Amino acid sequence: MSATPGPRILVFAGSTRRGSHNTHLARLAAERLERHGARVTRIDLKDYPLPLYDGDLEAAEGLPPQARRLQALLAEHQGLLIASPEYNGFPTPLLKNTLDWMTRPDGERSGLALFADKVAAVVSASPGALGGMRSLGLTRQLLGNLGVMVLPNPLALPRAAQAFGEDGDLEEAAVRQRLDSLCHRLVSTLSRLHPIDDASGESP
Ligand SMILES: Cc1cc2nc3c(=O)[nH]c(=O)nc-3n(C[C@H](O)[C@H](O)[C@H](O)COP(=O)(O)O)c2cc1C
Repeated sequence: MSATPGPRILVFAGSTRRGSHNTHLARLAAERLERHGARVTRIDLKDYPLPLYDGDLEAAEGLPPQARRLQALLAEHQGLLIASPEYNGFPTPLLKNTLDWMTRPDGERSGLALFADKVAAVVSASPGALGGMRSLGLTRQLLGNLGVMVLPNPLALPRAAQAFGEDGDLEEAAVRQRLDSLCHRLVSTLSRLHPIDDASGESP
């Protein structure tokens, strides 16, 4: 861990389900990111309920307050770690809808511009044998469309119902190692891209 303040990373899962495997995996990733020196904000999208995107609603009422709060959070962070569940081979409607609202303009301010130059790592957990691998590919593509640089080697965690031990950590050492490597890479990439100003504790 470095002595200077690390990059800020926003962590969330594309599920609000109680007992969500992806929320669990996001928590484990957040712990590792912090161990590698990042300043992490972990949020639950349950705390940011948004209507299904509707252009008429947006035209009549503008951005919902929760979308504004998410945009403000995004603006304060250099990195993202997203745990993306898989529904029928796709990322969840919750994740897509949340990102869609976040890209919308708020007055003069472009939502999409907030994503530019962010760096993201994506992970996925599923009770199935593929660990949500198909959702991972599409989540990477979606983030890329928003201008986010997405790290290679995302982690797909299969058989998630059996993957976590009694202590809450991942059972398999090899999988723990892969998550750790991904988290380390996210922090080290961000630290090189956004060197922190020692005096202010902020990236320039
Ligand atoms: C509508 C729906 C479709 C699903 N499709 C897939 C799928 O394509 N692949 C998969 O691995 N799991 C699929 N699942 C199972 C999810 O991976 C499982 O519900 C998982 O627990 C969701 O993530 P969470 O635990 O973070 O809420 C699907 C679940 C739902 C509700």
